[in-house]
Amino acid sequence: MKITVVGAGNVGATCADVLAYREIANEIVLLDIKEGVAEGKALDIWQKSPINLYDSRTVGSTNDYSKTAGSEVIIITSGLPRKPGMTRDDLIQTNAGIVKSVTENVVKHSPDAVIIIVSNPLDVMTYQAHLTSKFPRNRVIGMAGILDTARYRAFLAEELNVSPKDIQAVLMGGHGDTMVPLPRYTTVGGIPVTELIDTEKLNAIIERTKFGGGELVKLMGTSAWYAPGAAAAQMAEAIVKDQRRVFPVCIKLEGEYGIDNCYLGVPVILGKNGVEKVLELDLNEEEMELMKTSRDHVNEVMTVLDNLNK
Ligand code: NAI
Ligand code: 2OP
Repeated sequence: MKITVVGAGNVGATCADVLAYREIANEIVLLDIKEGVAEGKALDIWQKSPINLYDSRTVGSTNDYSKTAGSEVIIITSGLPRKPGMTRDDLIQTNAGIVKSVTENVVKHSPDAVIIIVSNPLDVMTYQAHLTSKFPRNRVIGMAGILDTARYRAFLAEELNVSPKDIQAVLMGGHGDTMVPLPRYTTVGGIPVTELIDTEKLNAIIERTKFGGGELVKLMGTSAWYAPGAAAAQMAEAIVKDQRRVFPVCIKLEGEYGIDNCYLGVPVILGKNGVEKVLELDLNEEEMELMKTSRDHVNEVMTVLDNLNK
């Protein structure tokens, strides 16, 4: 079984490393446009196998898509990351072209794959890959919700001084400042979080989560990669092992939550066919208003993409 990661930069290489050491596939192909980089990183990860004790093979490729043939999952991380002062939406022009050409190439060689988009602006790059691949919506999905939720869970674990393993949460909406946190659906070992933390502190954590990506860009001069790479690998694992995990994932909504033709993060069941089912939560009025704001923002950026594609 094969998984391909396109883009051997910070996120792509980290993702390939996690896929390998957790033995999520027997073969992991890492592809990049920069001569030799993917081959070098794949070789480095392979040379770590006797130390970390895994036997997944990592193979590198400089733009040779024949090596990706027959992949069950394709993770697309190619594209520019943000620099300080930039929003994710500022990346659209360059990254749309990259995601389009990469998608054209991967679908030729892996027509049955599930495509996971990581490149930003995430929701709209998922739209681009869906348009280009013409795959059904369940097989073109975006990674953001697992990352945003992980940040929220990590901040809560720190505040409450508990293990992050015991914090369960759902965040919905677009990958950006309009993401929709759902404290009503956040628990700590089964206990509603609102019983353990006061509203002011919880709101501060929610605000920090919304700008969690930007916090890291400010610190490092580029965007994050450890948690994003691990999050994309976790989605691939759920698919290739048909785990039916429940994760927030970006997918085209077709009437769910009263929203049509918009790419947004929602909780889904993830299994061998990609999204097996979109889960519809009974959102209250305030939560639904936040979803609509998120929808309106993503719709605006989708229109920018439509104009670029004209
Ligand atoms: P990076 O600059 O380290 O790596 C990007 C790689 O893509 C480079 O190695 C580059 O050579 C490659 N590339 C560019 N054009 C290509 C093409 N046509 N074919 C194959 N490879 C190509 O960037 P990083 O940090 O890995 O981020 C990648 C993308 O992921 C960015 O757009 C970033 O904003 C996004 N991102 C999204 C997250 C999310 O939650 N969805 C989280 C973190 C990053
Ligand atoms: C993040 O949230 C940049 O989208 C990326 O870290």
